[in-house]
Amino acid sequence: MHSLQVSLPPPPAHHYTIHVNYGALNLLPHTLHTLTPAPSQIAILADQTLANIAEQRLPALLPSSPLLIKLPSGEPTKSLHHLPHILSTLAAARLDRHAIILALGGGVIGDLAGFIAGIYLRGIRYIQLPTTLLAMVDSSVGGKTGVNLPEGKNLVGVFHQPTAVLADLDLLETLPPRERHAGFAEIIKYGIIADAALFQSIASGSPSDLAPIIARSIEIKAQIVAEDERETTGRRALLNFGHTAGHAIEAITGYHTYLHGEAIALGIRVATRLSRLTLGLSEEDERRILNALAAHHLPLHDSMLNLQALMDRLPNDKKAQGGRVRWILTRAIGQAEIVETINSNDLKEALEILHQPPSLK
Ligand SMILES: NC(=O)c1ccc[n+]([C@@H]2O[C@H](COP(=O)([O-])OP(=O)(O)OC[C@H]3O[C@@H](n4cnc5c(N)ncnc54)[C@H](O)[C@@H]3O)[C@@H](O)[C@H]2O)c1
Repeated sequence: MHSLQVSLPPPPAHHYTIHVNYGALNLLPHTLHTLTPAPSQIAILADQTLANIAEQRLPALLPSSPLLIKLPSGEPTKSLHHLPHILSTLAAARLDRHAIILALGGGVIGDLAGFIAGIYLRGIRYIQLPTTLLAMVDSSVGGKTGVNLPEGKNLVGVFHQPTAVLADLDLLETLPPRERHAGFAEIIKYGIIADAALFQSIASGSPSDLAPIIARSIEIKAQIVAEDERETTGRRALLNFGHTAGHAIEAITGYHTYLHGEAIALGIRVATRLSRLTLGLSEEDERRILNALAAHHLPLHDSMLNLQALMDRLPNDKKAQGGRVRWILTRAIGQAEIVETINSNDLKEALEILHQPPSLK
């Protein structure tokens, strides 16, 4: 037998710039111009809701005429179904390793386009052009890409960081209010886990200038991702505050009752009560969290939720280790920690409050 060692150097550190501003799309020519090697071809993967921007505004900003692939809007697009067509279209257009993909849309297009960029020719570059609040503050940053399977969400994918992210806040003007509110659930989450001042700045509603709020949210996410890109130390799990119950609520309601951020709001209510019972979070902080969610028109209770189904679903959360659920909880607004052991009575109480509207004041 011959046994040989293969030793590879560690991959070079990857840096990328995230621009957050009104009109940030106008930075695209400069962003492309500074890339080495220069992009040989450009493909746009776009949500068809944004067809106007993909067909008119973007091409005017590009050095050569792009290959445009428009995709239906909605979560079903983030599946294996569209992969063969998209990959074959790229191959038929002879995109080479120096080509670049522009992902124009919300988290659905961003996750799908990032995945395509991660697997086409074993990986080409892509730029995120997020168009929803959720995509700007969350999905466009951090390099998690992938698609859903019928068996569950995000079960296939690769870590593949973008080359740049341009978050143009002008694009949010056409975003339906419900989608905007859902994005705020993630911003409230960032405030709870890492920044009490950020939390306070949005606690009573949406400020008129979103730029500093979005930039700070991205900064929190980017910092946590930089510390634990592939979820090996557990630090990245902090981003999942509200997501343990939230993912289970999405799953048991078949992914069509709630938008992701709405399910996360319900999950934040559960995690907040569990934080009171387990870590001694104050009643005042619980009240502030619930008021903030209500100020952004997010759901806080659902008397129709099947609590047994919810309980049964929890250990199936992707973050469960060996069948035990790891909860991200908060001792005080602005801090989060991982809690491995939860008393079953506390969990029961925290889930049962979802049947009751909170008393807000
Ligand atoms: N990769 C990650 O780290 C990560 C993190 C969080 C969520 N996600 C994923 O993100 C996805 C959800 O993303 P989303 O909430 O952005 O949903 P989405 O991409 O489905 O967009 C929501 C809706 O808004 C429409 N839309 C998008 N931009 C618009 C605009 N500017 N004006 C008008 N309409 C617009 C879309 O057509 C769609 O109907 C989920 O698949 C989730 O799993 C990924």
